[in-house]
Amino acid sequence: MLDVQHLQTYYGESHILHDVSLHVKKGSVSVLLGRNGMGKTTTLHSIMGIVPPKTGSVVLNGKEMQALPSYQVSKAGIGLVPQGRRIFPNLSVKENLLTTSRPVRDGWDMKKIFDMFPRLKERETSMGGTLSGGEQQMLSIGRALMTNPDLLLLDEPSEGLSPLMVSEVIKIIKQLKEDGLSMLLVEQNLAMASDLADHVYILNKGTVVFDGASEEFDIEVRDKYLSLSS
Ligand SMILES: Nc1ncnc2c1ncn2[C@@H]1O[C@H](COP(=O)(O)OP(=O)(O)O)[C@@H](O)[C@H]1O
Ligand SMILES: [Mg+2]
Repeated sequence: MLDVQHLQTYYGESHILHDVSLHVKKGSVSVLLGRNGMGKTTTLHSIMGIVPPKTGSVVLNGKEMQALPSYQVSKAGIGLVPQGRRIFPNLSVKENLLTTSRPVRDGWDMKKIFDMFPRLKERETSMGGTLSGGEQQMLSIGRALMTNPDLLLLDEPSEGLSPLMVSEVIKIIKQLKEDGLSMLLVEQNLAMASDLADHVYILNKGTVVFDGASEEFDIEVRDKYLSLSS
């Protein structure tokens, strides 16, 4: 479904991604882990065309994305739930959802979003900026779903949320997976990552240092690549 090969991405002169390759199989969740500043967001932005890679390829369902502007990548079927939610504070919940609406038959629409997130229905007319962190995360996920993506990229959806809200987000991701959505999840929350992942990648300084099925993602791997001292 998603096939990312040999990405080399720069910000000006600084070389951030070094030959990053990763995959998401249809209907599965791949998780991308790594400490702060290792290039996780840059990887998602390279896939979306927000920060176009210098070389490398991004192929979604056989179609090349790497030369497309981000609105076309979105149109081709990749949705992004950005780090920090990025909802519009001065638009209502409903208006936030309408900004990305791309109706398809039997797909996501306002009603389905409100069925999935009853709390958003209750706050339909509230301004985005007045929502709690958890509500904003629901809205951010809802807004990405309104584009009716084939593949959803989520950038640290648990960041800054209470444990209770984190388990809500886990539930949502599981439900989306059951519905057949493919996802690439960036996380720093290891418990959440191992709960959801079919496949795990670890980024270190812009390089993929671990690439394995979730069963291979054991204590040894965690200690080796993710411990704070390394
Ligand atoms: N807009 C930018 N301009 C220059 N450097 C950036 C920019 N965004 C991120 N970086 C640098 O790229 C590296 C990777 O950042 P990022 O992809 O945000 O990491 P992560 O999401 O894993 O925390 C970091 O060293 C960061 O300082
Ligand atoms: Mg990031």
